[in-house]
Amino acid sequence: MKVVRYADRPDLRAIRYETLAKPAFPEYMNHNVPGGKYWSRLSDDFPDLQLALLDGDELVAELHSIPTAWDGSEGDLPGGWDESFLRAYEGGRRPDVLCALAIAVRPDRQGERLAARMLQEMRAAAERAGLRELIAPVRPTFKWRYPLIPIEQYMTWRRDDGTHFDPWIRAHERVGGEILGPARASMRIEASVSDWQSWTAMQFPDDGDYIVPEMLAPLYVRRGVGCHVEPNVWLRHRL
Ligand SMILES: CC(C)(COP(=O)(O)OP(=O)(O)OC[C@H]1O[C@@H](n2cnc3c(N)ncnc32)[C@H](O)[C@@H]1OP(=O)(O)O)[C@@H](O)C(=O)NCCC(=O)NCCS
Repeated sequence: MKVVRYADRPDLRAIRYETLAKPAFPEYMNHNVPGGKYWSRLSDDFPDLQLALLDGDELVAELHSIPTAWDGSEGDLPGGWDESFLRAYEGGRRPDVLCALAIAVRPDRQGERLAARMLQEMRAAAERAGLRELIAPVRPTFKWRYPLIPIEQYMTWRRDDGTHFDPWIRAHERVGGEILGPARASMRIEASVSDWQSWTAMQFPDDGDYIVPEMLAPLYVRRGVGCHVEPNVWLRHRL
């Protein structure tokens, strides 16, 4: 298997959405503000940090990351995915750390530890870029099954053998990741009820708080507008 830069492979860029992103993430995640503004620039602006994993000629996994500013203190930790992006592009501060934006493995290749390889590649990229460490606003795989449990509580859940309850947090910890704390408002998506209906294949006939499949916390609908604030868990990987 080999890793290539998306910047060098427009053919892979053309198929990545259908192959990896679409099956990996719910549609509404493509509609947050910083992503909509800057995602398409990543390969041009940070070509060494947008990588694809090939098995032979087949695209099997990918990673996206961005250099951002964090001085290492608790108080300066970005709020999550959105703020990391905005600090990188609009914050005006020199970047200190690499922030993971996404890792996706093709559905038929999940469970083969390919994500561990991608995390190693991210660490190596951070090192090459002269950044202090890698941080990740992790989207816990099983959190959608517990949408009413606060992220502060969920992130403490461990199995009897001490490993983390959540498979994705567990995979990070297996390769040296450490939990930093909750990212309560990592990604915010606000849109009209008709947009939410088309993204989720659900109806939201009235104001209320809705539990939506695959959503890590409720969707709040008020006066024709739906708002979802996705909670994540911050992890760090020291280099
Ligand atoms: C999360 C993800 C990146 C993990 O990649 P991976 O290469 O499958 O990871 P691993 O093979 O190391 O598996 C990690 C754990 O998840 C479990 N797992 C893997 N695929 C799974 C699936 N489809 N459903 C449930 N559990 C799964 C594995 O059994 C493993 O658990 P273990 O610790 O008990 O062995 C991958 O499943 C994925 O792309 N998911 C969709 C996109 C996503 O959520 N990305 C992360 C947010 S950016």
